[in-house]
Amino acid sequence: MQEQRIRLPELRKRVCSAEHAALWIEDGMTIGMSGFTRAGDAKVVPLAIAERAKTEHLKISLMTGASLGNDVDKTLTEAGAMSRRMPFQSDPTLRAAINRGEVMYVDQHLSETVEQLRTRQINAIDVAIIEAIAITETGAIIPTTSVGNSASFAILADQVIVEINLTQSLELEGLHDIFIPKHRPRREPVPIMSVSDRIGSTAISIPPEKIVAIVITQKSDSASTILPPDHDTAKIASHLVNFFKDEVRDGRLTNSLMPLQAGIGTIANAVMSGFIDSPFEHLTMYSEVLQDSTFDLFDAGKLDFASGSSITLSSQKSREVFNNIGKYKDRLILRPQEISNHPEVIRRLGLITINTALEADIYGNINSTHVLGTHMMNGIGGSGDFARNAYLSVFATKSIAKDGKISSIVPMVTHVDHTEHDVDIIVTEIGLADLRGLAPRERAQKIIQHCVAEPYKQMLFDYLAEAELRGGHTPHVLEKAYAWHTRYRETGTMSEVAGTLKAVA
Ligand code: COA
Repeated sequence: MQEQRIRLPELRKRVCSAEHAALWIEDGMTIGMSGFTRAGDAKVVPLAIAERAKTEHLKISLMTGASLGNDVDKTLTEAGAMSRRMPFQSDPTLRAAINRGEVMYVDQHLSETVEQLRTRQINAIDVAIIEAIAITETGAIIPTTSVGNSASFAILADQVIVEINLTQSLELEGLHDIFIPKHRPRREPVPIMSVSDRIGSTAISIPPEKIVAIVITQKSDSASTILPPDHDTAKIASHLVNFFKDEVRDGRLTNSLMPLQAGIGTIANAVMSGFIDSPFEHLTMYSEVLQDSTFDLFDAGKLDFASGSSITLSSQKSREVFNNIGKYKDRLILRPQEISNHPEVIRRLGLITINTALEADIYGNINSTHVLGTHMMNGIGGSGDFARNAYLSVFATKSIAKDGKISSIVPMVTHVDHTEHDVDIIVTEIGLADLRGLAPRERAQKIIQHCVAEPYKQMLFDYLAEAELRGGHTPHVLEKAYAWHTRYRETGTMSEVAGTLKAVA
């Protein structure tokens, strides 16, 4: 085993237990860990850090690629070991600690973290903990199911702990494309001209002496928690497919569309699944997380190539894909997240981006992160990187949440992640609003008409009529703009009508 997994002989003597490796971590350190949307995360050393924190004062600032699996965020939070977290999370226990103000959470565009690290605008990484399938003859680290920020964490950290995961197949070697941009202001262009371009190396090169500990693990990635498509998400997908058919008919897109990006979560995955029964062919993806739908599209013969930063699958799909990774490998690339989400590349390739809103307002501003304007859900993730630079920026949401007690389309969003300037299309199960080329008053009419179910549709038309009487480029009745949210907080529903019905598309 060791010959294949730790190919540089002098490093084999650094193999130790997770408990021993965790002793490298000191109170107050900043730790950079692998892991992106539950894929390729460090799995055992973090838990050993949490164990230590139960009996000694040990608090860390934790940076990752994105969300973690294996209850790592939960366990570190419960042990009181987490003081600061960035740039993304989706764990209920950590979320609650963030919303209690106990953990300082920096919710950040996923392309930006390592740029700020590299230029020392934020605290430097002391120790990186990186999951790998193997360490090469030169001491380079071959990641597992995600790249995320692992490459820059390992390069920038003083010390590196490697978790070699024996459940991850050696066949993953060759999947990764590690490219690190040079310093600004004289940085050369990122030379990706097509989604399948390889521009870097297949492993993370660091001086081998920085690897201070190697831990052998046998824990699998946590399965993705997305739900299968339902009636509403299938409707959303069908509205989008019809919209793209019209774009092709009118000569604005070809039958292979443009490279696709789809955000995390149930809705975005369902939307991508909707392409399986569409007339489009030779599709490509330039995205950050590759979910079940990516492989369903490969199997359906619809998708030619997918570039991402992680592969996050349900348990059944994970078995199908990773037991047959050879079948997909020449059509896949995993890149550092600053490259998968790079504004320059997104703009150059002309992506169609599909992300999810918690709520949208009548003018097209999007809140993807804050429930009722104050409570963090997950984070902005890559949605800002993609939406701002897209060829066509789509936001999808169900028109209602919590059995109709919440309208996802509101007079004014309570927190803005994506401004009206970064949103071309809003789609719900009710219908699709094409906002391109429209002024705010026109956008409001379109969004209310096409995306909202009763009783909220009439309530929004009433609000807009009252607002327009007051005038303005973007009319509002300021004292009523958040009345829906306060009504929900006070009565349990945003509706003025008793016994709000579930919307029927
Ligand atoms: N107010 C309050 N809660 C709302 C809401 C609203 N307007 N709209 C949805 N919700 C709740 C849902 O009820 C659900 O709650 P539950 O977990 O208690 O059931 C939860 O939010 C998730 O909504 P769901 O409809 O299941 O959608 P999803 O799984 O697709 O997730 C986001 C939607 C917005 C939370 C998710 O996409 C996200 O975190 N996005 C931001 C990051 C991002 O876009 N990354 C993309 C690049 S990877």
